[in-house]
Order: sequence, then C-alpha cells, then structure tokens
Amino acid sequence: MKRRSLLKAGVAFAVPGVLSFGASAKPVSKAKAPKILVAYFSRPGMNYVSGDMVNLPVGNTEKFAKIIAKTLDAPLFRIEPVTPYPFDYRKTTAIAREERSAGKARDAKAIPDIRGYDVIFWGHPIWYGEMPYIVRGVLSKLDCAGKTIVPFVTHEGSGIGDTANLVRSFQKRAAVREGLGILGTRFARNEPVEPEITAWLKRLGYQK
Ligand SMILES: Cc1cc2nc3c(=O)[nH]c(=O)nc-3n(C[C@H](O)[C@H](O)[C@H](O)COP(=O)(O)O)c2cc1C
Repeated sequence: MKRRSLLKAGVAFAVPGVLSFGASAKPVSKAKAPKILVAYFSRPGMNYVSGDMVNLPVGNTEKFAKIIAKTLDAPLFRIEPVTPYPFDYRKTTAIAREERSAGKARDAKAIPDIRGYDVIFWGHPIWYGEMPYIVRGVLSKLDCAGKTIVPFVTHEGSGIGDTANLVRSFQKRAAVREGLGILGTRFARNEPVEPEITAWLKRLGYQK
C-alpha cells in the first residue's frame, strides 16, 4: 500500500522527534519561568554618605535595581517625578516633609505597564522611615492582583522597616515576599554588595 492510502486508512506514521497520532505520551511539563520587572525610584544629587555630604550622580537604589536586573536578566522601570526633586539635600528633605504631611506627593511621569509580568521587584529609598509618597502614588495606581511583589530599599540607618506591610496595604491581592534593605552608603562607596543580593534572590528562588 502506498503512503497516501495508508493515511486514508488511518495509519499513523511516526516521524522522529514528533509524537505520532494516538500516542499516549504526554508532553513533559516544564515549570514556567516567571516574567520579572524591576521598578524603582531613586534620587541622584547631594546625599549623606556615612555622615559626609556627597554628590551621587547615580542614586543608591538605582545601583541596587541594576544589580537585580542584571542578575535576573530582567527589564528596569524607573519612576521619574514630573518635577525632579532638588539636587540639594536640605531642599529635598523639606519637600519630602511637606509631601508627607499632605499625604500626597508630586506626580510621576508614568506608571509601569505591568501586564505580562508575574513578579515586580519594587525599590525605593527610605524617606522619613518609610516609602516616599511619590512611590506610594505609583503603587496605588497599579493592579497587582495575582502578582508577586518583592520590596527592596536603601536607607541610611532606618532599615527596611514595615515596607512589606505598607506594600500589602496598597496591593491587597498581591503576594508580598521578604524584602531586602541595604545601607545606601555601601552602594555610594561601591562596596561589594552583589553576594548579599544574589544570596537573597536565591533564597527567594529567583535565578537567571
Ligand atoms: C528626603 C530624605 C529623607 C530620608 N530619610 C531617611 C530616613 O528616615 N532613614 C534613613 O535611614 N535614611 C533616610 N534618608 C537617606 C536615604 O534613604 C538613603 O540615602 C538612600 O540610600 C538614598 O537612596 P537614593 O540614592 O536611591 O535616593 C533620607 C534621604 C532623603 C533624601
């Protein structure tokens, strides 16, 4: 019988590498790698580095975000204020204080498009012991239902504090993981922080 006649008769051919019709083998199910986005806010300019006022052209949290993005091969989204915060440290703290007592900050230029991402790394400096209000403004506009949020912060001594619960209060339908806070001075001095960050990512189960 010719091949065409065999097909008409419902006989399957096994082509190497392709499952033949009627085969009972199921495709091997592979755990889908989560799609990760690293979103952050960071302010370049004058800042305290272990008690000394120093110009930081690249903010500490930006350096932290870039290490995560590089380690996980993930894209970055930078939260940028419509009106930048001043270069001057004292002017910035005065504005941050005003925004804190008003419970509202200046707007951000854009919010990240998080559709298509499963995990959002959420980074910012600690301002007055907490998440800056500009960052809260952006977080409150996102729909993170069913997604995972991983907070990361830089600070000058306060630590990460209650950041995870604050994130949860804005995104009640998201899973919020263990965050990591690192002293900003360590980034400003270009100290080797990568091993700590890599160990934290590994602990959470995120690897390239
Ligand atoms: C307005 C303002 C408020 C701050 N408040 C705190 C604070 O309460 N606790 C703290 O540990 N660090 C505080 N810092 C220090 C920053 O958290 C720290 O320098 C951080 O690494 C800056 O990150 P960035 O360079 O990404 O903006 C404050 C800095 C600024 C500008």
